[in-house]
Amino acid sequence: MRSAQLLPLVLASSSIPAALGATLPDFFRLSSRSGSAVELQKPAVSPPFSEDVQDKDLRADLPTRQWRFEPWPTFWMPKYCREEAVINQLQPADFEVRDVWYEDCAAAWTICRHRGAKEPWDGILETLSQVPVGMRQHVANLVILPGRTSDASATSNAAAYTRGSVLVFTPSFFKLGVLFHEFTHILDMVALQTVVKSHGYAEGTAFSETKLWARAYGNDSAVPTAYARTSWQEDFADAGRWALSDMTHAGGLSVYSPGWRACAHQIAAYKAWLGELVFPRDGVCSGKIDTSPAVPVVAAAKPPPGAGGAAAQKMPGSGLQGTKVKKIVMPKGAENMLWVYHGPAPGTQ
Ligand SMILES: *[C@@H]1O[C@H](CO)[C@@H](O)[C@H](O)[C@H]1NC(C)=O
Repeated sequence: MRSAQLLPLVLASSSIPAALGATLPDFFRLSSRSGSAVELQKPAVSPPFSEDVQDKDLRADLPTRQWRFEPWPTFWMPKYCREEAVINQLQPADFEVRDVWYEDCAAAWTICRHRGAKEPWDGILETLSQVPVGMRQHVANLVILPGRTSDASATSNAAAYTRGSVLVFTPSFFKLGVLFHEFTHILDMVALQTVVKSHGYAEGTAFSETKLWARAYGNDSAVPTAYARTSWQEDFADAGRWALSDMTHAGGLSVYSPGWRACAHQIAAYKAWLGELVFPRDGVCSGKIDTSPAVPVVAAAKPPPGAGGAAAQKMPGSGLQGTKVKKIVMPKGAENMLWVYHGPAPGTQ
């Protein structure tokens, strides 16, 4: 997506446009991190990968999983969904909320879909089922917006973004390639924290900002995509996107560009660090980032009878409740990170 207003401000964690930041309550302002706002000097792989061809192949190559779901009662929604509705100037009451259980995990995914979203529930749940479970487990809530709004200050002018452990999409960007990119932002913050800390970095440092990732980059002559050049985190996210194709498509990345070896060390590093986590041997989740707690849909509303007080902070049976699934905890500071997607729109490449 090329938005003249947004493009110059793609600065990883501080990528929220300044104009937008000014319109938001303090709670949503972001602190930028020194060091993340780099423009990587290496060019993109040439000839470029086609993301549309990739999406078509991912849809065909990745198995779907079965699911069942239960809607939440209408008075309640996850806190993060409510916040994203408000930021995007949408009515929280226009979102439907479902707990979804996939066959490969005992914990539920809690997903919020705007009634006006053109992607139907079944399409959303099937696409999400194709995200490998070890990756899929790294999200608190998913939010599907109705589409882009005409209001230039609304975040939904961005087609997809990751805020902390929440993934937000407009329907046309809800594609496996973009999902892998966004999930990889969360993996970057969470999945390798032990490694990051054991190398002396502070809690909450992204893996992609460590010398471990810089080394992989240092041995390559290109990054996977033009968009990857905008920061270490975007480079890592697009390496994740293309590493998934390398791991699942017959012939690997040579099918998508004869020049792919120019980024081979980054792809290999992603696979070495995260491959087994994304595709666990036993095929089931090893944990889950829990849903944000339930809040009333209408902020001022009294809780419905029998559902008041602390007992109502979680919907019965939702999230990790009643399961032995390990809770994956976000590191300090990670919930405030924001990455707004400015890669090409699906269907244009
Ligand atoms: C290339 O990889 C080796 C082995 O990991 C590493 O020691 C070296 O620093 C890397 N080169 C660059 C330029 O980063």
